[in-house]
Amino acid sequence: MSVDIAEIGGIVGPAETCLMTSPLTHRLARREDVATLRPLMAAAIRALLPQFLPPEAVEASFEVMGLDTQLIEDDTYFVVLCDRVIAGCGGWSRRATLFGGDHTLGRDDSLLDPQLDAARVRAMYTRPDFARRGVGRRVLELCEQAAAAEGFRRAQLVATLAGEPLYRACGYQERERFEAATSRGVAVALVRMDKAIGPPS
Ligand SMILES: CC(C)(COP(=O)(O)OP(=O)(O)OC[C@H]1O[C@@H](n2cnc3c(N)ncnc32)[C@H](O)[C@@H]1OP(=O)(O)O)[C@@H](O)C(=O)NCCC(=O)NCCS
Repeated sequence: MSVDIAEIGGIVGPAETCLMTSPLTHRLARREDVATLRPLMAAAIRALLPQFLPPEAVEASFEVMGLDTQLIEDDTYFVVLCDRVIAGCGGWSRRATLFGGDHTLGRDDSLLDPQLDAARVRAMYTRPDFARRGVGRRVLELCEQAAAAEGFRRAQLVATLAGEPLYRACGYQERERFEAATSRGVAVALVRMDKAIGPPS
C-alpha cells in the first residue's frame, strides 16, 4: 500500500515529533484543525480504500466523503492525537445528515430527537501510518459516550467498505447495502449500520 509521504509530512510536520509508542489522547476538534484534517482525510481515502474498491470508485468516493465542518461547530467532532500529531478524527451528530462532507448533496441539518432517532456517527478517518492502532475504535467509543450522554439510545452510520470491518468489530449491525451515485458515473458502495448505545432500557 503506498502513501504519499510528502502529503503526510505536509499535514503533520516532522514525523519525529511523534513516537509511535506514545499513548493516544483526544480532544474536540477546532476550526484551526481543518487545514490538517482535509489532507489527512484525502490521504486516508487514497491509502486505505483501495483494499476495498477499484481505483475509479476510490476517486468517486471524494464526492460522498470528507469533512462536515458543522460537526466542529457543534462540538461533536474529535481528534485523536499521538503526542501532538493528529492520528485520526471522527465524530457524531445530533443532526439528520447521514454521511458526506460540506460539499455532498442531500444534507439535512435539522435536529434529531434522542427519544425517537438514532444519533449519527460521522466522518471517521485514520492517518494511514496510524491504521490498525485503535484510533478508529477510540473515536467510536468517544462518539457513543457523548451521544448517550445526550439521551440517544441508538447510533446509526453509513459505512464505506473500508469502515465496515471497524464498525462490525465494534458491534454495529448491517441494515442496508446501497450505492451512492456520483457525477463521475461511478457508483460508490455503502452500508447503513446501527447499534444500541447507552444504558440498557
Ligand atoms: C475505517 C478507518 C477509520 C479505521 O480506522 P483504524 O484506526 O485503522 O481502526 P482501528 O485500528 O480502531 O480498528 C479496530 C478494529 O476494526 C477492524 N478493522 C479496522 N480496519 C480494518 C481493515 N482494513 N480490515 C479488517 N478489519 C479492520 C479490526 O477488527 C480492528 O481491530 P484489530 O486491528 O485489533 O484487528 C480507516 O481505515 C480509514 O480511515 N479508512 C478510510 C476512510 C474511511 O473509509 N472511513 C470510514 C468512513 S465510514
